[in-house]
Amino acid sequence: MCGIVGFAGKVPAAPILLDGLKKLEYRGYDSAGVCVYHAGSLQVAKKQGELKNLLAVTDNGATLPGNIGIGHTRWATHGAPSDENAHPHLSQDGKIAVVHNGIIENYLALKEMLLAQGVTFRSETDTEVVCNLIAMYYARSGNFLWSVQMTREVIVGSYALVILCADEPDTIIAMKQDSPLIFGQGEGCNFVASDVPAILKYTREVVYLNDGDLVVMTADSVRFLNRQSATVEKKTEHIAWDITAAEKGGYEHFMLKEIFEQPSAFAKTISPHIQDGKVVLDGVSFEERYLKNLSRIYVVACGSAYYVGCVGKYVLEKLCRVPVEPMLASEFHYCDPLCDENTLVLVISQSGETADTKLALLEAKRRGARTLAIVNVVGSAISKEADDVIYTWAGPEIAVATTKAYSTQLAIVYLLGLYMARLRETITDGEYDELLAAIQALPGQIAALLTEEKIQEIQDFAKKFHQAEDVYFIGRNVDNATCLEGSLKLKEIAYIHSEAYAAGELKHGPISLIVPGTLVVAVATHPDLFDKTMSNVKETTSRGADVLAVTTDAFADEIGKTAGQWVLIPETLPLLQPSLSVVPLQLFSYYVSLERGCSIDKPRNLAKSVTVE
Ligand code: G6P
Repeated sequence: MCGIVGFAGKVPAAPILLDGLKKLEYRGYDSAGVCVYHAGSLQVAKKQGELKNLLAVTDNGATLPGNIGIGHTRWATHGAPSDENAHPHLSQDGKIAVVHNGIIENYLALKEMLLAQGVTFRSETDTEVVCNLIAMYYARSGNFLWSVQMTREVIVGSYALVILCADEPDTIIAMKQDSPLIFGQGEGCNFVASDVPAILKYTREVVYLNDGDLVVMTADSVRFLNRQSATVEKKTEHIAWDITAAEKGGYEHFMLKEIFEQPSAFAKTISPHIQDGKVVLDGVSFEERYLKNLSRIYVVACGSAYYVGCVGKYVLEKLCRVPVEPMLASEFHYCDPLCDENTLVLVISQSGETADTKLALLEAKRRGARTLAIVNVVGSAISKEADDVIYTWAGPEIAVATTKAYSTQLAIVYLLGLYMARLRETITDGEYDELLAAIQALPGQIAALLTEEKIQEIQDFAKKFHQAEDVYFIGRNVDNATCLEGSLKLKEIAYIHSEAYAAGELKHGPISLIVPGTLVVAVATHPDLFDKTMSNVKETTSRGADVLAVTTDAFADEIGKTAGQWVLIPETLPLLQPSLSVVPLQLFSYYVSLERGCSIDKPRNLAKSVTVE
């Protein structure tokens, strides 16, 4: 969602802020702005639409001299995307400038109080209210830090706030609650940002801030204060990955690059956890007794991560013989879930910041469940809150529509399933060895799906079907779970209405929507269920559907009897097949989106990291 960058240094701030905002574009936004202090006042430039509009009005930052400033990309919540609603917001008296990620829940009451005092507002945002609130305290006290601290006492909600004061032109104050914020230490300069890529070009030394933390920084100094206003020491972390990992590297889109990174990301994710032919999970401290008494697993997540949970249901239930319930995080929190000390709540999140997932995690803990998080971003809120964490090593994922994070999350689910099954004694040694070997073979098999020939095949199907308006994905068992992800991808990046249905359920409703020419994507990899899925495929072809099937090499001779066109994928064990069947679906969506001229990496209305409920 919204992105933040703040800079205090000895060189012009605006170009650095704009460069940082460029790196944050992937988070999803609809307007952008910067504020720089120069010659006695706070100068603001902000524009609706893409960052290039802001670059144009500021002549790439040249019209905004000054060595300290703040910048923002906004994803609209309160008020439509517009120049007025874009951040930074300036207080009515021009003394305070603010950028903000999050939502201030009590902003209406605060706004009324300020209106009664004669403050006028230019925007519909909650952020402008915070800005004027700080200015009100500042007008009374002349003390910048105290005014920010007082404001913190009054506002309710989630925020990463970065603030400038015209009377203290060397200082930036930032504070956070339930919205990500990092501090970056440069040479003769300091940064704050919502995300590492914004500042990685300038520093690798960062501090991940905790809720309640407040930072007071200048070009040469930094002070961290906790909620009780005591000065605290913070550990600096070194970012090991390179900025090139967050750049396109010759690919037309981040999404394509990330699809191609899947074999290596998968291998990197599993390799630390396989030693001497056994799964080791360093981040997990399950006692054997706990695992034996385990009565239920909830897999709680949003979006694609939830669909990993849907695959996880089949994998974990089959291997561990324990009931597994995938739940959308936004539902979990409010459904009075049945949790006790024998419940494991597995939360999955690429960003580790998704508000619904984080709230669900806190709720699970409150109810006494044990929590384990599968997370990609080190130092993220969810990784800090969960009892145990297993990281995926996908590297930075920039495209809004996830691919490599999805694949690496699946990888961890397989390993977790094996690990728990062994301790629960629900798997034989032979099955264990066979599964582990098959998991280790997956990176090579995924790579085999990314050859020029395969890509060309899928590109041709995309050309043929890109004008489809309604698409139905059908499959059974793990193939059904894969269909959910395939369908989501098509919605997200190609803006095509699509639905995923359990193949056997089609006849209970959606079959009425199949008319001549409707595209049906059938995923049929499970050897025991192939014939049954083909029967369902026939139900659609006899009503005129055009079927694109995804099946394994094992059915090369069979598939043409039922489906008009197909993609063959390598065969693995049925439970692991989703790691392979999802790849042609990702590519199909990508090339359909390309044909339709959509914004692939930054689809309309979507955000990479959804930090509001
Ligand atoms: C957004 C993204 C999805 C992602 C979901 C959950 O909707 O566009 O790609 O699956 O959030 O995000 P998380 O960071 O928790 O995995």
